[in-house]
Amino acid sequence: MPLVTTKKMFADAYSGGYAVGAFNVNNMEIIQGIVGAATKLNAPLILQVSKGARAYANHTYLVKLVEAAVQESGLPIALHLDHGPDFETCKSCIDGGFTSVMIDGSHLPYEENIALTKQVVEYAHAHGVVVEGELGQLAGIEDDVNVSAEDASYTRPEEVQDFVTRTGVDSLAIAIGTSHGAYKFKPGQDPKIRIDILEEVEKRLPGFPIVLHGASSVPQEFVAIINQYGGAMDNAIGIPESELRKAAQKAVCKINIDSDLRLAMTAAIRKYMAENPSHFDPRQYLKPAREAIQKMVEHKIVDVLGCDGKA
Ligand code: G3H
Ligand code: 13P
Ligand code: ZN
Repeated sequence: MPLVTTKKMFADAYSGGYAVGAFNVNNMEIIQGIVGAATKLNAPLILQVSKGARAYANHTYLVKLVEAAVQESGLPIALHLDHGPDFETCKSCIDGGFTSVMIDGSHLPYEENIALTKQVVEYAHAHGVVVEGELGQLAGIEDDVNVSAEDASYTRPEEVQDFVTRTGVDSLAIAIGTSHGAYKFKPGQDPKIRIDILEEVEKRLPGFPIVLHGASSVPQEFVAIINQYGGAMDNAIGIPESELRKAAQKAVCKINIDSDLRLAMTAAIRKYMAENPSHFDPRQYLKPAREAIQKMVEHKIVDVLGCDGKA
């Protein structure tokens, strides 16, 4: 099976009351860990690449690694551009083998977001590629853009129908209180997301796939290991998995996870290096890192996304 778009994945996820995981990839071990989990559980999968990932690992290397994953696993896998910053980056990914792109105009004034998103949709659809747009702004850091909690803004449900109709996007990312990175809430804050906004959006866009960014749950077991072995990650707090599960049962069809991959990998490497200070073969510490990613993704697929057996 070649790379797929998210069309059928999202239609099935919407009607089935589950979500598909969209995991950020930057190197071979991360891809292998994620795909190992999806293969074992027969789950559909979105592998996503940010501008920063393309700068780090190179577009062609990442595409070839994902193609290898498709060939080895036989799974339906979509290759998605995460947070496309401009038309040129989206075009480069569409021309270069991606099956899905996000154009992130969420920081722009409403009409400018519409104009940019529409331009990408026209090019993408002419090339058989699907597009994710975004309305509302999440807090946190993505690539080199840092949005403070004060500047973040929830999606306005009264805008979503107009935005989707005028742009022609295939899915919509909304801001309902999730945020990027490992520090999503202040200690003592109630770590809730605005399911009521999601429900309002769902009412206005029946059957339309919604995307949740910033959806890592920041497992405290990883934070504890990182801190035990010399790290300094005090007050790292994520989205409770019970909140994400609720969203996955509603209109949310794609849940983005990156920070939890980073935490699983870093915790495993810190632990290995501390316990084996004389080892210097990268395969020795990348193997447990890859295994930690696989275990974490298996848990997400079964207990958060509910997409096991849906490939
Ligand atoms: O939302 C951002 C993702 O976590 C990607 O992060 O831009 O550092 O690759 P990155
Ligand atoms: P996290 O930082 O919560 O993993 O979010 C990742 C994301 O939204 C990628 O687009
Ligand atoms: Zn994101």
